[in-house]
Amino acid sequence: MTPRVLITGCDTGIGREFALQYLAADWSVIATFHDLENAGSDTSGFKNYALDVTRPEQFERLKSAIGDEPIDLLISNAGIGLDTGKLGTLDFDYVRKMYEVNTIGPLRLVETFAENVAASSQRRIAAVTSRMGSINLNLSGGHYGYRASKAGLNAIMRSLAIDLFSRGITVVSIHPGWVDTAGGGGNAAIPVHESVEAMRRLIARLGNHETGQIFSYDGTPLP
Ligand SMILES: NC(=O)c1ccc[n+]([C@@H]2O[C@H](COP(=O)([O-])OP(=O)(O)OC[C@H]3O[C@@H](n4cnc5c(N)ncnc54)[C@H](OP(=O)(O)O)[C@@H]3O)[C@@H](O)[C@H]2O)c1
Repeated sequence: MTPRVLITGCDTGIGREFALQYLAADWSVIATFHDLENAGSDTSGFKNYALDVTRPEQFERLKSAIGDEPIDLLISNAGIGLDTGKLGTLDFDYVRKMYEVNTIGPLRLVETFAENVAASSQRRIAAVTSRMGSINLNLSGGHYGYRASKAGLNAIMRSLAIDLFSRGITVVSIHPGWVDTAGGGGNAAIPVHESVEAMRRLIARLGNHETGQIFSYDGTPLP
């Protein structure tokens, strides 16, 4: 049977590349867009839906459209960053927004579609995180909202891995590297197609014993 993937944040960058690569590999692709107007001629092979991950009613609409269809792989990719505010000039509204998009949105995504994943053959969930969310690896400080929102994401994915283990679902967080997308902020080291190819290889070889871990895109475990 054709495997099915659902990916958030396919407007640009890593999400768009994931969707294009899975389509080229003959997967059925459900692509969600922050703004559906960003769907284009290159997305005509996907099932395209609107999903702002901060809007519960859009999750409900998407769930109604998809119903009980099995989803082999759920990729939480949508995210915002980097905050550059320094102590004394922090934009707390943006910090709060980062939590809504980077932390709470992915939790709502999994809550909405966990049963679809459980009903599939491959039963995998991957969240695109950042090594900036690792508390152990934080030796340079700053980026309060981004670091905290991705650390929160990592904590949530760990709990989901434990709670969904008995359903045979493997849950991981993956740092994509420093990638040449808008989110990478310029001068990034890794072309987006290389990062996504490596993450797809990693996801394809994951075993259930690895659930709950954080990996770099090349498969190196991160603390
Ligand atoms: N690039 C890097 O070096 C790097 C490193 C570590 C982690 N990451 C992570 O990788 C993921 C993808 O980022 P990217 O590098 O591909 O940057 P990007 O091109 O800016 O992609 C982010 C995507 O998320 C979407 N998005 C933003 N707010 C959203 C919302 N409320 N609901 C739904 N979608 C929303 C964006 O849509 P709009 O553009 O329409 O807002 C965009 O499609 C993010 O989670 C990011 O934190 C990237």
